[in-house]
Amino acid sequence: MSDWVTVCRADELAPGEHRIADVDGAQVAVFNLDGEFFAIEDVCTHDGGVLTGGPIQGGEIVCPRHGARFCIRTGEALSAPAFEATAKFPVRVEAELVQVRDDRWD
Ligand code: FES
Repeated sequence: MSDWVTVCRADELAPGEHRIADVDGAQVAVFNLDGEFFAIEDVCTHDGGVLTGGPIQGGEIVCPRHGARFCIRTGEALSAPAFEATAKFPVRVEAELVQVRDDRWD
């Protein structure tokens, strides 16, 4: 079980913004969507591209390489050429800090 990793202070991550955190070697993108925090692996399941840097449209991020869309809330792949979800991670706010952990190996 991995420990919680602090990403930033909650007031440093405004709605519509995101931050990247290294969580035990995984690159995790943490988003603020309308005041709620969500975290997905910053990896496109089509060809391993980095997702961040692509446009965020509503609750979706568009891979900047070939345009696959992913749900930021669930990690689900929403359009070709990606068909598999990217990993989703638990996020919490503890003492005003946004924290994320990798629960894939629990
Ligand atoms: S690497 Fe993301 S759509 Fe191809």
